Amino acid sequence: MISAAEYARRRRELMRMAGEDAVLILAAAPERMRNADAPWPYRQDSDFHYLTGFGEPEAVLALLPGRAHGETVLFCRERDAERERWDGERMGTDRAARELRLDDAFPIDDIDDILPGMIEGRARVYCHFGQEPDFDARLLGWIRRLRTARGGGVVPKDLVALGHLLHDLRLFKSRDELALMRRAGEVAGAAHIAAMALARPGVAEYEIEGEILRSIRSQGAVPAFPPTVAGGANACIMHYQANRATLKDGDLLLIDAGAEVECYASDITRTFPVGGRFTAAQRALYEIVHEAQLAAIDAVRPGRSFGAAHDAAVRVIAEGLCAVGILKGGADRAIADGSYKAYFPSKTGHWLGLDVHDVGDYRIDGEPRVLEEGMVVTVEPGIYVPPNDKTVDERWRGIGIRIEDDVAVTKGAPDVLTAMVPKSPEALER
Ligand code: GLY
Ligand code: MN
Ligand code: MN
Repeated sequence: MISAAEYARRRRELMRMAGEDAVLILAAAPERMRNADAPWPYRQDSDFHYLTGFGEPEAVLALLPGRAHGETVLFCRERDAERERWDGERMGTDRAARELRLDDAFPIDDIDDILPGMIEGRARVYCHFGQEPDFDARLLGWIRRLRTARGGGVVPKDLVALGHLLHDLRLFKSRDELALMRRAGEVAGAAHIAAMALARPGVAEYEIEGEILRSIRSQGAVPAFPPTVAGGANACIMHYQANRATLKDGDLLLIDAGAEVECYASDITRTFPVGGRFTAAQRALYEIVHEAQLAAIDAVRPGRSFGAAHDAAVRVIAEGLCAVGILKGGADRAIADGSYKAYFPSKTGHWLGLDVHDVGDYRIDGEPRVLEEGMVVTVEPGIYVPPNDKTVDERWRGIGIRIEDDVAVTKGAPDVLTAMVPKSPEALER
């Protein structure tokens, strides 16, 4: 769990970065409709969650560094017995201010009257723009109100993108964040193991998907994204989600599924034989991906660049593809001319955190970012041989393999948060 004190620390740190003449304004995620009056399950905006831990829509956070009457102000829905009878409990302003350790909270219905006065006199407004058109319009409305105020308000000179400051904070995970991410890894790990127990020829991909969702929900978590359950050549479709084919003996099954615990994500992929035994061709390619993944994980260390894991995986995969005859002409050439990308078209990983593809810059001044303690990445190399690739021997066609773990950068060895799910070929066959 993230304590109220940690949320308060994050707000203080962000205000320190923004400076005394700034104001920072963030909106909660709106409720989104699936159709008519049926909403999608509500998920708070990750930035808003990061700074408040508040789980309701229709809220705005204003951070006002140095303000004598209070630096941290929330606008949220008031208690409303009639609405709460239909939609569930609301925290209300009094409780929100107290429990979230904010200096003040006001009803969201009063924001047009209160917020413009808080913006007045500040030089810079840090906000997200271009994400939510409705919120962009409201924000500009508050600034316009200031401009047209009687006596003429002092209008901020700059609108600044908030992401640069906030997303750099989010990149570094605290001890309590890492504990939640480890838990998210354990939940998804158990779901993968349950799926492995169910998989056999004749079972449908959607039955496996159902088992994964059952397992994740039964542990009190939610899926971090819709699972990919891809039998046979479906695994060569990078974001396969149809999940409607029936598993066949002799095929591999690729499952990419993650869980979200208190908004923190895990992201795991395993690939294993539906009938319990790899064919010789499957095993040959699996061993290459496995070796590539271990080499890439070993590169997740402080001081190494973000790109080092990818480079390590590419080297092993290019050499492996040359060794089995899928690529001709040697690994150096396959890497130099990029021909390995016909079978490994993706990158080896991404930041992981509140978002599955988490925020944070991958490059700084054009150079790949150097890894530091507290960052978390996925490591997910793969080999995908398109089923219609006539340039390779038939036995390779339609084999798709990916192995994905979540890895925290520590002072010492890489910390694999998802290590409980088997991945060696021997363990998978067992
Ligand atoms: N599950 C999405 C990804 O692996 O990036
Ligand atoms: Mn994944
Ligand atoms: Mn991933």
